Amino acid sequence: MDQGEINKMNRSFKTIIRTMAMSAVAAAAIGSFAPMPANAAEEINLYSYRQPFLIDPLVKSFTEETGIKVNIVFAKKGMLEKIKAAGANNPADAVLTVDIGRLYALKQAGVLASVKSDVLNANIPAHLRDPDGLWFGLTQRSRIALVSKERVKEGELATYEDLADPKFRGRICMRSGKHAYNVALIASMIAHHGKEKTKAWLEGVKANQARKPQGNDRAQAKAVFEGQCDVAISNTYYMGKMQTNDEKPEQKKWADAVRVTFLNQGNSDRGAHMNVSGAGVLKGAKHREAAIKFIEWLTKEEAQKIYAEVNFEYPANPKVEASALVKSWGDFKSDTLGMEDIAKNRGAASKLVDEVKFDEGPTS
Ligand SMILES: [Fe+2]
Repeated sequence: MDQGEINKMNRSFKTIIRTMAMSAVAAAAIGSFAPMPANAAEEINLYSYRQPFLIDPLVKSFTEETGIKVNIVFAKKGMLEKIKAAGANNPADAVLTVDIGRLYALKQAGVLASVKSDVLNANIPAHLRDPDGLWFGLTQRSRIALVSKERVKEGELATYEDLADPKFRGRICMRSGKHAYNVALIASMIAHHGKEKTKAWLEGVKANQARKPQGNDRAQAKAVFEGQCDVAISNTYYMGKMQTNDEKPEQKKWADAVRVTFLNQGNSDRGAHMNVSGAGVLKGAKHREAAIKFIEWLTKEEAQKIYAEVNFEYPANPKVEASALVKSWGDFKSDTLGMEDIAKNRGAASKLVDEVKFDEGPTS
């Protein structure tokens, strides 16, 4: 799904978004996503930061199976502010989003309601959900190195710590250190090594940059393909998106130039850094039970397989396998550091990025 199509879908929800921005009184008077159903249990209103190409097949299967209709507003930026502003008059029942940073921001804003569910507790490992049941991880992605097949030897880069090794001087490409994916990675370094050591590490990584941080994850793989650098830092699913991109076949060449490298895989090492996409039920949800049912359904085999096949993500439910393409990148060990521990160190991580002027590039 391209941006044009997403914009088109978003436009159709324009009125709803506008309602959100209005005063609480007006919002209450106007109502919510759609005309209220006769039976409130038959409908859910959902905010999704996740894109239509992924959510549509999930929702279609869920509705077919349960008869519960799902109304979706696809969110981009500023949704948290809108949810906070609407308060108790929030028309949405649940939120779907990516990155522990966003889930934690929702928790910190006090807009999420606690959910106790045996299904969710059984399907989702404890380190991938909030200890108080405020949010639940649904899929996992690893932050990996995509290294040049030609210029990086097998085993030359083995750990996140290696990224600061002078042997990689001028060879690393990364997007902004302030992007949520990198903030989470740096936060995990703080959780494992403390602030001082992480600062020294980050200075080392900055010194090893091939260029000023720019672009998204795929742009880093492109830079490896073009010979600008030898190591790109990326989320796993972008590899799958590049490998299968028939619309932009040049991306297949970028993927072809790199080797998927999971870091910190040594016997006694902690494993590759992971992040999650996840969901939470909102306080004041008018269809709370149906919303819980939906999130529970998202953790079951059918939905977890859709996530795995459509977006190349790793199921959060350990009983469900990754897609064949994703499995072709190899087995690996995940860092099981609690998402909560990553979230708590995000502020400090972001500060370090500023302190070492990471985004100014290697020479400043
Ligand atoms: Fe992403």
